Amino acid sequence: MTQRDIRIAPSLLSANMAELGVEARRAAESGADWLHIDVFDGHFAPNLSFGPQTVADLRSWSDIFFDVHLMLARPMDHITRFAEAGADSITVHVEAEGDVADTLAAVRDLGCRVGVSLMPGTPAEMATTHLEQVDLVLPMTVRPGFSGQRFMPEVLGAITAIADAVAEGELSVDIQADGGVSRDTIPALVEAGVNVFVAGSAAYGAPDLSAAIAGLRETATNARGELG
Ligand code: DX5
Ligand code: ZN
Repeated sequence: MTQRDIRIAPSLLSANMAELGVEARRAAESGADWLHIDVFDGHFAPNLSFGPQTVADLRSWSDIFFDVHLMLARPMDHITRFAEAGADSITVHVEAEGDVADTLAAVRDLGCRVGVSLMPGTPAEMATTHLEQVDLVLPMTVRPGFSGQRFMPEVLGAITAIADAVAEGELSVDIQADGGVSRDTIPALVEAGVNVFVAGSAAYGAPDLSAAIAGLRETATNARGELG
């Protein structure tokens, strides 16, 4: 199987919220592959962040790939507006309301890449049953809601199970990690099969965003090299 590309995705949740356009452009100019955009409804996760209008307005600041992560109780009610706003990829949670397969199919019909996410503790099978329908699986490595939380190594088993299922099916599906991703935690994530790294604190929280992104990429590339 060909190796999936390593991608670094700064999380806008850790950016300066009063300067989102500038911050999106800064990520692109600093070598980010994707911009990760976390959307909360204050119910599925205990925080509020961005809406579809934010995404639409950000589109005029950068053409970077918008990786929209919906932590919403009712994603089906909102996916059309995020797609129309310019989302390139939309990820929804298996724990959300509604039929997951129907929601994933609706995202596909809107012309976006399709992602499915799991909270820590949710069995890997809840995602692997949908592998044929998705481009990306996101087993979260913190409880959703806030940047700057401690990485949960107990999720590594679920990530490995997902990576094994992707390999067995000979599928081309990205595996993303989100939460506590840093140069310290990337080697274990690479070993488990992750190729897309979301970084909030370790990217926007760093004094030099370009250097931070380059460092994350170097650690991932080296860790993969060591796997042989
Ligand atoms: C958590 C979010 C993450 C968050 C990651 O709900 O989904 O994207 O911004 O932040 P760090 O990298 O600081 O854990
Ligand atoms: Zn996220």
